[in-house]
Amino acid sequence: MIVGNFVNNLRNADIIKNRRLSEICTLGVGGEAEVFVEPDTPEEFQEIFSAVRGNRVYILGGGSNVVFPDGLVEGVVLSTRGLKKIHWLEDSRVEVQAGYSLQKLLREVRAHDLAGLEFAVGIPGTVGGAICGNAGAVGLGICDLLDEVTTIESDGNLRIWRKNDFAYSYRYCELANASRIVISCVMRFREKNPDDDDLLKNFADKRRNQPLEFRSAGCTFKNPESQSDKPAGKLLDECGCKGLRIGGAVVSDKHANFILNVSGASSSDIFKLVRICRERVLSETGISLEPEIKFVGFDDAP
Ligand code: EPU
Repeated sequence: MIVGNFVNNLRNADIIKNRRLSEICTLGVGGEAEVFVEPDTPEEFQEIFSAVRGNRVYILGGGSNVVFPDGLVEGVVLSTRGLKKIHWLEDSRVEVQAGYSLQKLLREVRAHDLAGLEFAVGIPGTVGGAICGNAGAVGLGICDLLDEVTTIESDGNLRIWRKNDFAYSYRYCELANASRIVISCVMRFREKNPDDDDLLKNFADKRRNQPLEFRSAGCTFKNPESQSDKPAGKLLDECGCKGLRIGGAVVSDKHANFILNVSGASSSDIFKLVRICRERVLSETGISLEPEIKFVGFDDAP
């Protein structure tokens, strides 16, 4: 238990003890964070990050791609959702903080007659979370749009990463690391043209086969890297995973790569169901699917 000294050392940020994580994660599962803090400024983040050094720290964005364990989550959950500033620069660039909603950013970009973020239509969560998972669709990812990223490093100092300073690939970004926090970025867009409205509509249409009306954390598994392998959804479907159920968690009948919380699922239901799906695909096809959903604070991987 770490609450005592840490809480006394902090002046500004609101600290919530025993914050229910199921209320802020889109899957609606997860226990209580021993300490939950949502600072409003990078300076507060620096102060807190230094104060909690040596404890277990979890960085949380929009909660749309993450599962925490049931019960008490010991340590500190630092939410970036208080960092919501946005500032337009010249040359079609924007400086935006990590907690800004990705969908709100898409609307802002279009309102400025700019384009480039259409692929992100319908992707929930925050800009910071999207960077850490290189969120995207159809071969496009948010990291492609970055000019620079500002992080707080483990020593509490700010660091600016230029575009070529860090690696990223399909659903991967080197900056996603427990020892640093992405706090803001500069993104570059292009002038909007008349075709971009159709582009947006096409991307939105592509999501029609997804069960977005239910609580989920988006796609459960990454698509296999090898071009010769089928997408995860197809593999799971062909292996008969649709409809598999553990407690309140079920594999969607609409899209097999979505696990839904249909009635009061627990994190352990989700964990077990992910493992069952992964093992089934492995035994039937020899392909080992890698979860896209991040299981944080678990002793084991599903
Ligand atoms: N398919 C099936 N059965 C299913 C589901 C899919 O046969 O139950 C087939 C589809 O018919 C299609 C293929 O599998 O031929 C691929 O499916 P889909 O077009 O739905 O694309 P996806 O690869 O499953 C990816 C991203 C989504 C993103 C869509 C946009 C990953 C893991 N998923 O889905 O991202 O929205 O493209 O088209 O890369 C996410 O990352 O959370 C996510 C939802």
